[in-house]
Amino acid sequence: MQIKKIGIVGWRGMVGQVLMERMQAENDFALGDYTLFSASATGQSFDGKMYGRDFGKILDAADINALKKMDVILTCQGGDYSKQYYPLLKRQGWHGYWIDAASALRMEKDSTIILDPVNMHVIKQALQRGEKTFVGGNCTVSLMLMAIQGLLKEGLVEWISTMTYQAASGAGAKNMEELVAQYDWVGRGIQKLNTAQSALELEKNVTSLIRANQIPHDHFGYSLAYSLLPWIDSEYEMGQSREEWKGFAETNKILQTTRPIPVDGTCVRVGVLRCHSQGLTIKMKQDIPLPEIEGMLKEANSWVKLVSNKKDVTLTQLTPAAISGTLTIGLGRVRKMRLGESFLNAFTLGDQLLWGAAEPLRRMLRILFE
Ligand code: HSE
Repeated sequence: MQIKKIGIVGWRGMVGQVLMERMQAENDFALGDYTLFSASATGQSFDGKMYGRDFGKILDAADINALKKMDVILTCQGGDYSKQYYPLLKRQGWHGYWIDAASALRMEKDSTIILDPVNMHVIKQALQRGEKTFVGGNCTVSLMLMAIQGLLKEGLVEWISTMTYQAASGAGAKNMEELVAQYDWVGRGIQKLNTAQSALELEKNVTSLIRANQIPHDHFGYSLAYSLLPWIDSEYEMGQSREEWKGFAETNKILQTTRPIPVDGTCVRVGVLRCHSQGLTIKMKQDIPLPEIEGMLKEANSWVKLVSNKKDVTLTQLTPAAISGTLTIGLGRVRKMRLGESFLNAFTLGDQLLWGAAEPLRRMLRILFE
């Protein structure tokens, strides 16, 4: 199938904007004819100067006839849109490719979770089978797989325990704004007291402010500022959160493992803007010398950056402050653990809006063009 017409839905949301910026940076817009669809700005013109292109009139994201003309629909509009419009389009005989940022269709039988540096073979097999549904993975899972691809590729991983430190952006744009508003609200509350405070008085005042019902909390429901939230997404089975369940389910779907690799841990929201971090315990199938392990890890793909297990470089290079807004997958604190020689400790982080969301989508479009 010759790919020519691409429709983009949900391009004004946070993931959509990051996607558009990356597409412009990589000159993806030169590859085909793009139409922008919107649920709220139908009929307006969007000159797209910021993306170096005139996109013409914005079409209605609910206009099935216009959507049907597309060879590819790339959506960052959210799961409700995917669940409503994709089946509708298929029922009307549409055979185009559907590339989706939302999780709604990820675990469907004929969906492929896309993370091409890690599972290009899986994507290619799906294309050969004529499959059309390609969905970005959960950000935490994608970032972890990019980081430890070197070990997974060699079949060396018996199981993984992952303790996450997830940024506010993973919960949505409004949540990220709310985190900043919470810190601001507390800062102003402290200033208003207008008295010199000892460290302990300061702590007491801050704690009373984050417990106050007036702190902005419409989106998180609680204060994330000066605190953390050790539950992400809904309650699932066996005491897991849905985010924790995804670790196992999506890892094994992305890799198409024949013997599933157990993945489990606790997912925690922390007061960071857009970088997800994770502390990993990896049980290796064999006891391999550390230099060999490091060699495999750093050679696995072009984005993983192995930082040596030293304090100064770790604190300058392996933080959300250093990684945010880049495509680098930071990996460090790699060492054998006192638990035993086949237990590996690692810390990894990446921008959840880039490799965790937008980047695999635009790369899938490239794969279709190729
Ligand atoms: N579910 C993730 C989070 C983000 O809440 O951080 C999207 O993969």
